[in-house]
Amino acid sequence: MSRLAGKAVLVTGAATGIGRATAEYLHAEGARVFGIGLDGDEGRAVYAGKGPGPVFRETDLTDSDAVKSAVTDLMERFNRLDAVINCAGIYATGKRLEQLTDAEWERTIAINLTAIFKVCRETLPLLRAAGGGSVVNIASVHADATVPGVPAYAASKAGVVGLSRQMALDYAVDHIRVNAVLVGSVATRMTLDGLEAAGGAEALGLSFDSNRIARIADPREIATAIGFLMSDEASFVTGSAMQVDGGMLARLL
Ligand SMILES: NC(=O)c1ccc[n+]([C@@H]2O[C@H](COP(=O)([O-])OP(=O)(O)OC[C@H]3O[C@@H](n4cnc5c(N)ncnc54)[C@H](O)[C@@H]3O)[C@@H](O)[C@H]2O)c1
Repeated sequence: MSRLAGKAVLVTGAATGIGRATAEYLHAEGARVFGIGLDGDEGRAVYAGKGPGPVFRETDLTDSDAVKSAVTDLMERFNRLDAVINCAGIYATGKRLEQLTDAEWERTIAINLTAIFKVCRETLPLLRAAGGGSVVNIASVHADATVPGVPAYAASKAGVVGLSRQMALDYAVDHIRVNAVLVGSVATRMTLDGLEAAGGAEALGLSFDSNRIARIADPREIATAIGFLMSDEASFVTGSAMQVDGGMLARLL
């Protein structure tokens, strides 16, 4: 029997990068996956032909009604929900605080932090109705230590850790575990675009020396950690911020 057989899981940001790798990993482990996010063409192509179960629905997570309607669709198909993986996010670099417009600040917070609030507001009652469940929120090493020029991103990811902790406390009574993941550098569109915009790894503050795992991660290396936190194998893990960063945060200088 597959490890996650029977689990119904919602994954956000599921068309690309870490969300996509996670959706594929959970599907391979037997879970029924409902992916939502932008990049609909990529999402539908990824999910096509994977047999019964995995579904992708294009959803803008800044739109409360769209989130609500996606969750209704999920319940009509799966009739239960066991876990929620919040992966969607954007990265914005190259500006100090005083250079940010209201719209730039609000967009990053809306997608990286408020979207988790909107998704969880719809789904926590469903996890409770299932007798309990698990939420995994994708934060970043930027929650704990940062690089110059990413004020909204760093604030949003620190917010994700704070919100995850709060949810862990408030929903333990409902047997719902909530954890965050502090992700390091991963080979996804976000990193590749960020490197290009900043003009290379050094300008972005990235160094890959032998004091840590000296490479960028494959998204599947994040997916397996998410899968562990989501699964019953992590039955005593809640309120944690798990580093999956190749040792990045271990280094002071
Ligand atoms: N790549 C890295 O090095 C890295 C490092 C730390 C944390 N993270 C985090 O991992 C998560 C996934 O990022 P990724 O690296 O896979 O990049 P990615 O760009 O491939 O994935 C981001 C996903 O978010 C979705 N998204 C963006 N705006 C949305 C919106 N309004 N509504 C719905 N979906 C929306 C996109 O469609 C995309 O699928 C993000 O939260 C990111 O902050 C990534």
